[in-house]
This record gives sequence, structure tokens and C-alpha cells, in this order.
Amino acid sequence: MSQTKPRIKLGLSMAGYGYHHSAWLHPEVPADGVNTFDFYLEQARIAERGLFDMAFLADFVTFSMIDVPKGASGRSLRGGGFEPLTLLAALAPQTRNIGLVATASTTFGVPFHVARAFASIDQLSHGRAGWNVVTSFQDEEAVNFGSRAILDKSSRYDRAEEFVDVVTGLWDSMAPDTFLYDRESGRLFDPAKVRALNHEGKHFSVRGPLGTPRSVQGRPIIVQAGASEEGQELAARTADVVYSVQTSIAGAARFYEGLKSRMAKHGRARDQMKIMPGILPVVGGTEEEAQRKFRAMQEMIDPLVGLRYLSALFGDLSDHPLDGPVPDLRKDKELATRAQLILDLARKNDWSIRQLYQRTAIGNTHNVVVGTPEQIADEMQAWMENKAADGFNFLPALSPLSLREFVDEVIPVLQKRGLYRTEYEGTTLRENLGLEMPPTAH
Ligand SMILES: Cc1cc2nc3c(=O)[nH]c(=O)nc-3n(C[C@H](O)[C@H](O)[C@H](O)COP(=O)(O)O)c2cc1C
Repeated sequence: MSQTKPRIKLGLSMAGYGYHHSAWLHPEVPADGVNTFDFYLEQARIAERGLFDMAFLADFVTFSMIDVPKGASGRSLRGGGFEPLTLLAALAPQTRNIGLVATASTTFGVPFHVARAFASIDQLSHGRAGWNVVTSFQDEEAVNFGSRAILDKSSRYDRAEEFVDVVTGLWDSMAPDTFLYDRESGRLFDPAKVRALNHEGKHFSVRGPLGTPRSVQGRPIIVQAGASEEGQELAARTADVVYSVQTSIAGAARFYEGLKSRMAKHGRARDQMKIMPGILPVVGGTEEEAQRKFRAMQEMIDPLVGLRYLSALFGDLSDHPLDGPVPDLRKDKELATRAQLILDLARKNDWSIRQLYQRTAIGNTHNVVVGTPEQIADEMQAWMENKAADGFNFLPALSPLSLREFVDEVIPVLQKRGLYRTEYEGTTLRENLGLEMPPTAH
């Protein structure tokens, strides 16, 4: 076992019932899961048993009631669930090692609130918090915050750049030894160790300081998943971890190299960012068994749910025969890249509409790997060796079943190959990710 091999970093995405759009129909998935705390606690604990770096909560600030095609609404979830930071606060004392990452939007949030909430989660978890910075992209979210439509992308990222600077600046309000708790001298804290931010910018005016003590990991981890030019620039400058959607090693390696090479101009070393593309493994004792499991999952997708999923990308397809070819499709402005990717897949493989949703409504176009534990480990190893990833954002098809199978069957194979830790290296998320402490203004 070589110690010089880079170790795989692993995150768990705890979205909904899993990344299968009809997952809640599966008899081993708790039907009321997303509305119960225990569902999330169980996932965090299994991931912690599997020595995952972090557990992550995606968030869309809307609860979709769109009924396209007719009758589809109410058969699957889009949005909803617990407010992610509140949920992390509940998970913090019930877990010991796993990083706790939640999403907060720079378009709808306020920097002081965001800085304070994550700094507090970080204290409650003793240095395990992370913020997934998103700019949000849906009109369905904008309507909950006083607008009819979402801001255009460049305005969103303009605000996001300043937003992240204000938040990280506020996290730097206090030196590590600010609090003295010195009863003899009567000095509780040292005012000389507290720094106001005095930020005056295009979007925000924030004096500070933030009253939450400095994080033991310097500051919470910043996660980003922006794929556009603007998104990649924000990530190159500010992100510790990047999630991405990649379906081939070659494409992932290009993205990896492109993003890492943007870091130097911001004075950052390449290893100070961990790139973690999504992976959705379907594990079986044999390859045939894994394929059988995958086919059974595909057949489980409610056709109305499948069409609803496609409608978000292409509009209503319910007038077309389910087993006929995929027609030329309307492309949604904001999601054009993803819609095109899916359409290209359909054309290349000559898929019907049914086959298109069966293939893509499990995993949302992320990399789906069906095979034995060894085959899944081979795939992960190949991505690491080809500099296509520093680790993976694990996407369970069915929660928590798929996670449990992965931890019990694939993790031991990765460990045996020296590709994965056998114990946590540190106590903070930053230590486990192998990232340096950020510089301080003090
Ligand atoms: C794994 C992953 C998780 C994401 N989670 C969220 C989320 O929770 N909320 C959200 O609004 N956007 C989320 N996104 C979308 C991204 O933040 C981003 O908007 C998207 O990748 C498009 O990139 P762009 O904004 O640079 O065009 C996620 C993307 C990926 C790949």
C-alpha cells in the first residue's frame, strides 16, 4: 500500500429520497423520510461509518407545484424539505467527524445572516461546517423573494463575488485568542483582537464585526458548483471544494485541468481546491446482478414523474408517444447546456422518450456506474489516476439503501487498494480534506 497515492475525498449528497426521481416508491426507502429528522441522521451516521469527508444538503428555495404534464404534480418532490442550516444544527451534536455542508443562495440571502449562521454551525460542530455557494437559477425561487424572474447570470455572479468576500471577511472578525475569560483581571475578551470589516461595495455595506468566535478550522469550507465561465472564476478564486457534473474521464480531466489552472492568477496553489464530480454507483454481487438492479430501478420510474423531469428541460412531451423517438426539443435558456447534453445522448443511443427519462431520471445526468464493487472501485481509481477528480460527490439512487451498500461493499475495496482512509486524519473538515488554514488579517 503506497502512502503517496492521493486518497479519494468523499462527500454524500443527501438530496430528497435519493437521485432516483421515484425513489420514495421503493419498499426499502422510508416513504415519509424527507420529513423526518431520523432519515438524515441515519444517512449522516452511515456516511461517518464510511469515513466520508462530508454530508451535503442541496437547497432550492421553492416548492414546485408545476403540473406538467397534467397529473404529474404530487407524485415526486421538487424543493421543500427542512431548511438546511437548521437541519445541520440538529445533526451537529449527533455526529463527530463528518463535515456538514449546506447550501445558501447569494442571490436571495444577506451576507451578515449567512456568515453568522455558518459560523455558528461551525462552532456547534467543532470545525466541521461548509457553505455551498449558489447563485440560484429558477424563477420559481425568485417569486418567493419579491421578484417575478431570476436575475441574469452575470448580475447574479457579480453579487456573488462580493457576497463571498463579505462573508469570508466577517468570518475573519476575531483572532483565535480573542476570548480571555480572565476572571481575575475582569477581562472577558480583548477588543484589540476584534476587527470591524467596514465593507462598502457595489451591493453591500457591512460594518461588522461578526460576534461569533473564530472557527477552529480558520473558517468554514467554501463549496461551489458553478459550471459557467463566471461560476468557474468564482470557484477558482474562492472555493475549497468544487462539485461538477462529468460523464467521461476525458471531459472530467479537461474540466479539472481548466479549473485548477485558473487558480494561479489568484495566488492559490492547485492542491488547495478539491474537485469532486458526482458519481451514482449501482452495486451488485456480479455485473449481471448490478444490471438487473439498475433495470428494476428504471422500470420503477412513474412515467408521469419521468415526463415531469424531462419537461423542466424540454417542455411538455406528453403529446408524443412514450415509446417513440425524442422530438426536436425546445431548449430552456438557463439550462441549455444540460438539455443539449441529454438530447445528444438520446440521439446517439437512439433512445425513445421512455428510455430517455429511464436513463437520465436516475442521477440527473451525473456519472452512473453499474457493476461489482471492484468495477466501481476501478472506475473511481481511473478518474483519480487520470487527474479527473480529487474525490467524488456520492449520489445515492435510493436513500439510505444505496449509501449503505456503497459503504459496506465498495469502501473496503478502496481501502484495500490504499485509495481511501482507514480512519479520519483530523477533527475538522479542513484537516480531513487536507486543506491549509486560510490566512488571517490579524
Ligand atoms: C452537485 C451539484 C449540486 C448543486 N446544488 C445546488 C443547490 O443546492 N442549489 C442551487 O440553487 N443550485 C445548485 N447547483 C447548481 C449550481 O450551483 C450552478 O448553478 C449550476 O451548476 C450551473 O452553473 P452556473 O450557475 O455557473 O451556470 C448544484 C450543482 C451541482 C453540480
